[in-house]
Amino acid sequence: MNKTILALDVFDFKKAEKLVKDLSPYIDVFKVGPILFLQSGKEIIKMINDNGKKVFLDLKFHDIPATVQRAVQSARDLGVYSLTVHSCGGEEMLKLATSVENRPKIWAVTVLTSQVTTPEEVVRRAKLAKDCGVDGVISSPLEIETIKSNCGKEFEVVTPGIRPVKVADDQKRVATPESAVKAGADFIVVGRPIIQAENPVEVAKNIYESIKEL
Ligand code: C5P
Repeated sequence: MNKTILALDVFDFKKAEKLVKDLSPYIDVFKVGPILFLQSGKEIIKMINDNGKKVFLDLKFHDIPATVQRAVQSARDLGVYSLTVHSCGGEEMLKLATSVENRPKIWAVTVLTSQVTTPEEVVRRAKLAKDCGVDGVISSPLEIETIKSNCGKEFEVVTPGIRPVKVADDQKRVATPESAVKAGADFIVVGRPIIQAENPVEVAKNIYESIKEL
């Protein structure tokens, strides 16, 4: 499968639909976050699936275990491919989330990149997530290698903060698509570099070409 996940950070159904159709040769998974989900909910998921593509539902579940378990069941019933939970929800929450039958892939947020932390804490939470049956974590490009060496190659790492060319924006810990994939990222999450480009199809194609042989 194509390793680029497009962060569908547009807040209008028609714009989202155009991106899904236009980028379809280069992107297989589309990330839907809370804002788009609150606006278009089920329709956006259906539209992505109807176009033969997969949904990464990035709602970062963090609640009492029984509620997160039911949220995972609901996401499964909507037909999502993967979703996020917060590792800080703890062992019981993570285990109940992963116990759901025929569930989507579950990726854990270790520590939000907006919070101060240490590599040791990120690895501690990644290991906890793995021990609870979680499929992988969301990680900055800088932590991919440490997580892989501590949690094993099979434990997936999904990496935002991807910049094909250097730009000044709010992402501090960035990497190019090639360096993130070479470091071991199973998926890279790209938003603005594609969505805000003059020609999104061309940027997506270039990213696709740059990592397809890696
Ligand atoms: O536009 P950009 O490429 O920075 O988008 C990255 C996407 O990944 C956004 O949807 C952002 O919310 C998300 N994300 C992130 N850093 C994290 C977790 C998620 O940038 N640690």
